Amino acid sequence: MNAYSHSSADFFEAKYKASTDPWNFESSDYELRRYDAILHMLDGSTYRSALEPGCSIGVLTEGLATICENVFALDFSPTALKEAAKRCEKLTHVQLACISLEEIDSYAPFDLIVLSEIGYYFAEDRWRQITQEIVAEMKSGSTLLAAHWTGTSSDHEISGDLVHEILLADPRLSLQQRERHAGFRLERWERI
Ligand SMILES: C[S@@+](CC[C@H](N)C(=O)[O-])C[C@H]1O[C@@H](n2cnc3c(N)ncnc32)[C@H](O)[C@@H]1O
Repeated sequence: MNAYSHSSADFFEAKYKASTDPWNFESSDYELRRYDAILHMLDGSTYRSALEPGCSIGVLTEGLATICENVFALDFSPTALKEAAKRCEKLTHVQLACISLEEIDSYAPFDLIVLSEIGYYFAEDRWRQITQEIVAEMKSGSTLLAAHWTGTSSDHEISGDLVHEILLADPRLSLQQRERHAGFRLERWERI
């Protein structure tokens, strides 16, 4: 039994202390397929400034850095962020911060926001509130991409499908592309 809530910074920090890469982001076929699908869905555009909350050890961050002039990646686990810093050491256009998603000052500066496997760590009402804040501040024409596992886990507050349904219900987002792969789904929207 874990001593912490499954959404707390302490819970994730304990996971990274026990294993540097608890979800095998570096090597699992599933994760590498998911990262490919994300980057493929963004391909063809370059972005001035991307936001990646919950960047973990920075594997997706590295990929985003190939198509973005600037990447601001954050995670509230100091151990994960240390690994991300090592991985992105030479990428001077990647900025990392050890903060919670809920501490982000403003979403307005970003023309790309990537929500990858983070939405289900919030309760339904809180996720609705957070995404409404994100969308309210996004500039017209900017891009939001969400990608989540569609399986079930006792670590999750809500399902990956509900994470996406909440975003799909926001009339200020225009759906541009959606894909369902074995085990995960992703959607890309443009802010109207
Ligand atoms: C399942 S991992 C996903 C990592 C990465 N986004 C990806 O798709 O490979 C979830 C990550 O989100 C971080 N996280 C969860 N809730 C967070 C929050 N409220 N603020 C910042 N980071 C958070 C965790 O520390 C963990 O590194």
